[in-house]
Amino acid sequence: MKDLKKLLSEMTIDEKVAQLMQLGGEFYQAAHAEITGPIKDMGISVAAVANSGSVLGVTGAEEVIRIQKEYLTKNRLGIPLLFMADVVHGYQTIFPIPLAIGCSWDLDLAEKSAAVAAKEAAVAGTHVTFAPMVDLVRDPRWGRVLETTGEDAYLNSEFAKAFVRGFQGNDLTNNLNKVAACVKHFAAYGAPEGGRDYNTVDMSERRLREEYLPAYKAALDVGCEMVMTSFNLVDGVPATSNKWLMRDVLRKEMDFNGVLISDWGAVKEAIVHGTAVDERDAAYQAIHAGLDIEMMTPCYINSLKDLINDGKVDVKLLDEAVLRILELKNKLGLFENPYRGASEEEENNVILSDAHRQAALEVAEGSIVLLKNEENTLPLDINQTVALKGPFADEGSILGAWSWKGKAKDSVTLMDAFKNKGAILEETSEIVVLALGEPACWSGEASCRADIKLPLKQLELLAEVKSQRKKVVVVLFNGRPLDLHGVLDVADAVVEAWYPGTEGGNAVANILFGDVNPSGKLAMTFPYSVGQIPVYYNHLNTGRPNVLDAPNAYVSKYLDIPNEPLIPFGFGLSYTTFEYEDLQLSSPEITSSEILTVSVKVTNTGSRTGKEVVQLYIRDLVAEVSRPLKELKGHELVLLKAGESKIVTFELSEADLRYHHRDLSFTSDLGVFEVYIGGSSVDVLKGKFVLQ
Ligand code: NOJ
Repeated sequence: MKDLKKLLSEMTIDEKVAQLMQLGGEFYQAAHAEITGPIKDMGISVAAVANSGSVLGVTGAEEVIRIQKEYLTKNRLGIPLLFMADVVHGYQTIFPIPLAIGCSWDLDLAEKSAAVAAKEAAVAGTHVTFAPMVDLVRDPRWGRVLETTGEDAYLNSEFAKAFVRGFQGNDLTNNLNKVAACVKHFAAYGAPEGGRDYNTVDMSERRLREEYLPAYKAALDVGCEMVMTSFNLVDGVPATSNKWLMRDVLRKEMDFNGVLISDWGAVKEAIVHGTAVDERDAAYQAIHAGLDIEMMTPCYINSLKDLINDGKVDVKLLDEAVLRILELKNKLGLFENPYRGASEEEENNVILSDAHRQAALEVAEGSIVLLKNEENTLPLDINQTVALKGPFADEGSILGAWSWKGKAKDSVTLMDAFKNKGAILEETSEIVVLALGEPACWSGEASCRADIKLPLKQLELLAEVKSQRKKVVVVLFNGRPLDLHGVLDVADAVVEAWYPGTEGGNAVANILFGDVNPSGKLAMTFPYSVGQIPVYYNHLNTGRPNVLDAPNAYVSKYLDIPNEPLIPFGFGLSYTTFEYEDLQLSSPEITSSEILTVSVKVTNTGSRTGKEVVQLYIRDLVAEVSRPLKELKGHELVLLKAGESKIVTFELSEADLRYHHRDLSFTSDLGVFEVYIGGSSVDVLKGKFVLQ
């Protein structure tokens, strides 16, 4: 391990400032190592590039090794470059989109997916992945909902931890199959007004702390090495230059000592937000906010030295930032081995290996949600004929937005899978599987929609097929909860496959033909219509809830649509059925030092083995601050054979009942709580206890 303090003392100010700059791969290509192209466009010097601290988006062992080797010939002190990239749901073996993984409620699967992604990325030369993205989301118009695990703070936090564990393992220095994780986008990027990307975010500090911050914090609690800022404002100040958010909340309260990187161009965007005069001002604000690496804009590189020389910025701030970056390089073992895991031979062995494909298949199977299954249309009988139609029937672009290294040609289409299985395909069959969805480019960054229905042509196709009196199974490939009018009411069965990744076709076929019993449950509410957004399960009661016996018309409701979503959070069907009974509480009351045990008997009342996601919610009936009607506090996956029962037990303590009070203290209130257990957020058994 390198003596970093000594190294720092040997660095010039220029060398230090350059460590804080992150550029794309185009800056390192030989042809550009002169003052032309991107270097000129950005107004930086060749020397700055020769000393820059990290690279964005370059992967592939050969290229990484080449760039690193050449870089080290020019770097005076031999400080290696850090290679960072967006490896979000797989590198080349693509896993389902994170929203789909969220629907598995399976933390082991999430960890496994991240471990495979890390291994492939590591042999391809990546040191840091810009993942997990843990932004809480409530607006399916926003194109980036597919990158998160959904609308619930508890579930997002659990997944955040699982992903970080999978990416990083517990020995980054010696385990070359791991990469450092960078949780993003801090903070509250998932709440843009109107669901439009990069738009204004504004919320109370209580909501921020209660709903949006926990998942980032969870990632840090398990040792996530890096944090990325968000593009948006937080209480009127861009997150990236928000001193309160970064210094007080992230660094002090959350005790984060790792590297903080801006999102792409976010430092300079302070000028566009109207909170910085120019690049120098933007740099001044960001360094005071505690930002270490500036991604893709030159505010730091062009201004920090002057700011220090002019006495506007204390050199201590620069030293702290540089030290954090050097520490990460040290932890990754780069001073000893600047190429780390990069190996062309290992790329050939590891990437898209059978084991990785098998993992992708398993995760995809666990992520699929059965939304409707009238008259047991599914599973299909492999010995009966079936027609497979629709734009996604033989489509390899089922990988999702962050699959830039994944190739459609490597993915198994539904048609491939049907053929491999020996399905008897016949155009005129009475059973039609219709593969519908959104083109992949309709979700992801800067890909928002105001209308979240399927394209009209697809709805017409469905209506036409149905009018021929056929049984229709719709399989959906999409990146967001959709308005499913015209689908859910028309089709006999609906399977939400999301963008299921490289093994997607096989996973869907295994579900359709019953080799796998679906077990996914929605991690994000499907709205009745766009007009209902934001709609989420853990809403407040209001002073005038729209209850059945409401005394008058002046209640919180719409005249033209119900308040309830089309499909609630936590919902998902199985080919078997589960019954919940006998909700037991260990005591009708607990003190703050006691544990309450809540148990329920779950029985598989159908005829085949199935996995159920048992969900535990609470409600604080009377509190200083109005509390949600339900809050998810626990979940467990149980595998039950036909006829089998299991007692599922949860523990609750006073710590689970805490929330942010008016003074923002995180404490609980004495009094009555309700507790609910069930197979979705609406279908639950109810109990009561008192905290005294
Ligand atoms: C912008 C995106 O918001 C962020 O998620 C990503 O990591 C960076 N670009 C780098 O590609």
